[in-house]
Amino acid sequence: MSQPIAPGSNPSRPLSVVAVSGSLHEPSKTTALVAEILASFGRELEIDAHLIEITDIGPEFAGTLRRDRLPASVEAELQRIESADLLIVASPVYRASFTGLFKHLFDFVGQYALVDTPVLLAATGGSDRHALIIEHQFRPLFGFFQALTLPIGVYANDSDFTDYRVTSLDLQERIDLAVARAIPLIRSNVAEADSIARYLQGQQVQSR
Ligand SMILES: Cc1cc2nc3c(=O)[nH]c(=O)nc-3n(C[C@H](O)[C@H](O)[C@H](O)COP(=O)(O)O)c2cc1C
Repeated sequence: MSQPIAPGSNPSRPLSVVAVSGSLHEPSKTTALVAEILASFGRELEIDAHLIEITDIGPEFAGTLRRDRLPASVEAELQRIESADLLIVASPVYRASFTGLFKHLFDFVGQYALVDTPVLLAATGGSDRHALIIEHQFRPLFGFFQALTLPIGVYANDSDFTDYRVTSLDLQERIDLAVARAIPLIRSNVAEADSIARYLQGQQVQSR
């Protein structure tokens, strides 16, 4: 049986962190941003990271309208999203919103599968004019899922990157701040979820 996790301490198991990049391009600034966020979490916590890129799986689900018709590879990615301890979701701004395929992927996610899952919101755009995509598009979507959207989102524009690498110090600081603010919430969330799982396990053993 796993040990209880005190709210202030690091979890005793690696956290399952699933990141989704909604970019339709390779190479991609959005994917580069996600990689930096993952690296920042990796410096603070023991994580088991998995990156999902729409450039990889988009062609496999773009024409599919029902979850039960999805290829097994996409179904497996959905199950990873639904069972993650922490989600990092990012998309380039397309026409003032996330990409259509990013939304199409999340339309397959179970309505209650992300309840209380911490979610870090991130986006890239051509300029700062659409920075509020984090608050006006991402937060309502993950609010619908009753997920725990983390307080600081990360928005980057084209000038924060050089050759598809994050080179802006301001952006790096924003990433590190978002991660630092997220960690206490993630620790207590995982501690609570693990203690509920242990309680339910105990109930099942008693009722046998
Ligand atoms: C079809 C399309 C629509 C776009 N719409 C917007 C937009 O509404 N606002 C904005 O700031 N940038 C817009 N952009 C610019 C991209 O969001 C920006 O270049 C982004 O960083 C690209 O990310 P990627 O390298 O991951 O593809 C658009 C780009 C494309 C191709």
